[in-house]
Amino acid sequence: MKNADLATNTAQWKFPPGFVWGAATSAYQIEGAISADGRGRSIWDVFCRVEGAIADGSSGADACRHYELWRDDVATMKWLGLDGYRFSVAWPRIVPDGDGAINAAGLDFYDRLVDGLLEAGIEPYLTLYHWDLPSSLEDAGGWLNRRTADAFGRYAAAVADRLGDRVTHWMTLNEPYVSANLGYVTGQHAPGQRLSQADGFDAAHHLLVAHGLGVTAIRDAAPDASVGIALNFTPVTQVGPGADDAHVGAVIDAIHNRWFIEPLAGSPYPEIACRAAQWSGDVVLPDDMDLIRAPLDFLGINYYTRQLVDHTGVLAAPGPTTTMGWEIRPSTLTELLAWVHGCMGLDAYYITENGAAMPDVVSEGGVIQDHDRIEYLATHIDAVAGAVASGVPVRGYFVWSFVDNFEWSLGYEQKFGIFAIESDTYRRIPKLSALWYRNMISDSQAPESAPTTGRP
Ligand code: FCB
Repeated sequence: MKNADLATNTAQWKFPPGFVWGAATSAYQIEGAISADGRGRSIWDVFCRVEGAIADGSSGADACRHYELWRDDVATMKWLGLDGYRFSVAWPRIVPDGDGAINAAGLDFYDRLVDGLLEAGIEPYLTLYHWDLPSSLEDAGGWLNRRTADAFGRYAAAVADRLGDRVTHWMTLNEPYVSANLGYVTGQHAPGQRLSQADGFDAAHHLLVAHGLGVTAIRDAAPDASVGIALNFTPVTQVGPGADDAHVGAVIDAIHNRWFIEPLAGSPYPEIACRAAQWSGDVVLPDDMDLIRAPLDFLGINYYTRQLVDHTGVLAAPGPTTTMGWEIRPSTLTELLAWVHGCMGLDAYYITENGAAMPDVVSEGGVIQDHDRIEYLATHIDAVAGAVASGVPVRGYFVWSFVDNFEWSLGYEQKFGIFAIESDTYRRIPKLSALWYRNMISDSQAPESAPTTGRP
């Protein structure tokens, strides 16, 4: 079927009953209110003030003002027909100093949000760490310091104690690959450090220790919780026939795609990556790998694109691409899901992020006619349907993102939302993709007997 037909004939997809249609955001990208109700400082508050760190000189200080407008956002999600909403809790709101006293007002905010979601019939999918580390922990070494992992365990316990009676689905970390490598190796993200790949692996190991401690804390507080982690994958396609092309491809693949999933599945860190980085692994203590392999209920998969690699490294993507310069490649998602299932053998996977930044030209009628985003979403959902048909138990799909938001070091220039934000009023304006997603969800929930063809 052609892509345009996929987008208009959504009822063809056969997803199992109970499949979760959702949308995703994260705290620093949407909340704003960085000084409200006792919130401590995060590494992103600090990083955004560094000259040149953020493309448009902006920050998440106001972001989408979700902290203030969350009730309206929940109502909008209900209008969309979402089954699930993935959001993150801001660690600096809960433990302003990173480790130590709990700030009740911070917990109260998420308590209200969770109740509001449940009242609207929307299942909360909660991520504990989506990159906003309390800056006092960074002052003591951040993820290079193992004590940050211990502090994370205590923070996870505080959140799970408070919300574990109502939140079923928990993710410890979002994309630890990005926290470790963009935070401590390339310096593109907070805390902006440019260290060696070996240092990056130290940070990555401590993130996985934090994950393990978090899993234990959540299960202690909420024995019926469903616990996972959200990993990002950028599958590697090797270009060029040489042994050197293959070697560089294998190293990049090990760092980007294998480093986190393999220890979660009970294997050691990929040898080829350790060797390439001359990583001593001194930070790995005797019981760490057992802690890290604690059984999970699900894995969250964030997928946007693949990467082409030859002996020189990652190549510029061929077209078609999104405004991020990321190649649009839905078939890779089907292959990725089969590979991930082969590694983990779990009963449940969720696509915890998938979406596209697009130019979003406003048409004469004032509506953002984002047919390109609709096509991206339709072809990727079709790719997920393909994986489900071949036996991969994918249980849900969360579009990134609910609303245009603070896209980290790219500021507000890259727009991933299915809703735009009106400047001045902060009103959420549905793009055509929001209307499309809403129809698709209601079609997929229609009883089997409903006609599946004949829609315009
Ligand atoms: C992912 C992040 C998310 C957003 C999207 C575009 O890597 O988890 O916060 O930035 O990319």
